[in-house]
Amino acid sequence: MKVFDYKADLQKELRDLAQKNKKIGFVPTMGALHEGHISLIKKSASDNDITIVSIFVNPNQFNDKKDLENYPRFIDKDINLLKNAGCDFVFTPSVKEIYTEEDNRIFDFGDLDKVMEGKHRVGHFNGVAQVVSKLFNIVNPDVAYFGRKDFQQYVIIKKMVEILNIPIKIIACPIVREKDGLAMSSRNLLLSKDQRKNSSFISETLFKARNLINKLNVKELKDWVVDTINSNPFLEVEYFDIVDDVELKSINNWQEQNNNVGCIAVKVGKIRLIDNINFNL
Ligand code: PAF
Repeated sequence: MKVFDYKADLQKELRDLAQKNKKIGFVPTMGALHEGHISLIKKSASDNDITIVSIFVNPNQFNDKKDLENYPRFIDKDINLLKNAGCDFVFTPSVKEIYTEEDNRIFDFGDLDKVMEGKHRVGHFNGVAQVVSKLFNIVNPDVAYFGRKDFQQYVIIKKMVEILNIPIKIIACPIVREKDGLAMSSRNLLLSKDQRKNSSFISETLFKARNLINKLNVKELKDWVVDTINSNPFLEVEYFDIVDDVELKSINNWQEQNNNVGCIAVKVGKIRLIDNINFNL
């Protein structure tokens, strides 16, 4: 496995591979890697000749400076993990290497980035699109892999490649969960022992909610999820919505769309966790 800090070195290597018609898979990350990331890398390694992972904590997607400062960083541990996961190249650029000058691009995703995460973290998805479009430009992969835990991000990145005519296939991989059901996230590392224990109540409630779709209408079910999670003193729901999986529009009744996703953000003390679940009939 080779590690590159500079895009010119990575691109030189990639040019040689392109000449050999190698199929390239790409997994962009912000590090603090866990089994969720490893599942993306394994999928890429099984689908492609070469797998590239980037580790870059992107300042442009943090609307809260403290959140950026506190974001977990374990670069040496990450690189060791990647060695056994099927990764061929790791790209670990500095902020200057990615943002050689200020990125002022504003993307128009219609309503996709105005709801849920986009509403509560204004500018977040524009920053994600800035960095992912730059990384796509540098790496130029055939396929890129994203976790379904960040469902709205996946939908927006699919939109971004469509708008920019970028010929990269975007694949979403299933959420990987801890034994107690909590969706794996780098942010789980920031939870205290008690917070961590209580956080599994989020997925536990979502799983129960899935069994209630024949008994409750959409509004009743949304209220039930919010009230149930808020009854746990460690947890406070920021939003819970049930949306269609393409336009991310709230649904009002179960029959309206075929593929519905319940998306939630919950504050656990100062830490914000997100999760989602399919509510297909
Ligand atoms: O999902 C993430 O880890 C980040 O948003 C991404 C896609 C690597 C962009 O910084």
